[in-house]
Amino acid sequence: MSATATPDVAALSQEIRRLAKAKNAVILAHNYQVPEVQEISDHVGDSLGLALEAQKTSADLIVFCGVHFMAESAKILNPEKKVLLPNLAAGCSLADSITAESLSDWKEKYPGRAVVTYVNSTAEVKALSDICCTSANAASVVRSLSTDKILFTPDRNLGRWVASQVPEKDVVIYDGCCPIHDVLRGSNVTRVRDLLPGAVLIAHPECREDIVEMADAVASTTGMMSAVGKFPDAKTFIIATENGIIHQLKKRYPDKEFVVADGCIGCRLNCPYMKCIGLEEVERSLREEVFEVTVDADVAAGARRALERMIAVPRDN
Ligand code: 13P
Repeated sequence: MSATATPDVAALSQEIRRLAKAKNAVILAHNYQVPEVQEISDHVGDSLGLALEAQKTSADLIVFCGVHFMAESAKILNPEKKVLLPNLAAGCSLADSITAESLSDWKEKYPGRAVVTYVNSTAEVKALSDICCTSANAASVVRSLSTDKILFTPDRNLGRWVASQVPEKDVVIYDGCCPIHDVLRGSNVTRVRDLLPGAVLIAHPECREDIVEMADAVASTTGMMSAVGKFPDAKTFIIATENGIIHQLKKRYPDKEFVVADGCIGCRLNCPYMKCIGLEEVERSLREEVFEVTVDADVAAGARRALERMIAVPRDN
């Protein structure tokens, strides 16, 4: 817990840790969560890292401080555990941009292609896919496939970036996007760069093509942590992703300066879904064991196959 925690934060944090111990619960938090939730969690990471933690945990309860598809993946990978999402409003508009029906139609339009689906998707969509990927392993996943004909869903920006990394594959890309990343334009980033000469730009691959092209490094949220270490002489970093990651970056690199790429302290790069879980929600989730995430057994079996195939591929970043 931070030394500057207010009494309420301190008391709630203490109660959360007490409940987690009493119930043998593990608290997983995505890098985009609010700092106080990151601080009380057992593991903070990107979607891939947290899926691996969920898969291997021996805890009885998994409290997933992230968005719905992440908790759903945890349940699919470790079905014996009770998985809780502290706020059911924590959805993902990118995951909602494709349904099982729209993917089926698309597969009919492009028969014979291997379907690579970003984990930011529902279990039903994963179940219709050959393999999943995250932003930490997308290029390796596509490279690992024996076929050259790929359908990539649902994020068009990640898909375009992957296609540029694996030019030998023919990648047809679905037209979804994360609105938090997609709102950012090259001119926003250029403006921040002009104000901070010499700053290193690190972008998430969900950003638009022009931003990814001008970036010094492209990485998943956890990949950004190691990317910073590759620029030991740089003092200032411009970060093109949701602002929650700044907390972990500052903890790991207290002597560096991190500026969110929209130039207004992350006011636009702020995911309302990721930010709808606070300490009160986590405490209630543990105390009342809400809100349990369940997945239909048939759907889970198909989705697990796609997730486990992904996990067998090593990380890119
Ligand atoms: P990561 O794979 O970096 O965790 O990103 C997840 C995400 O939802 C980005 O918007």
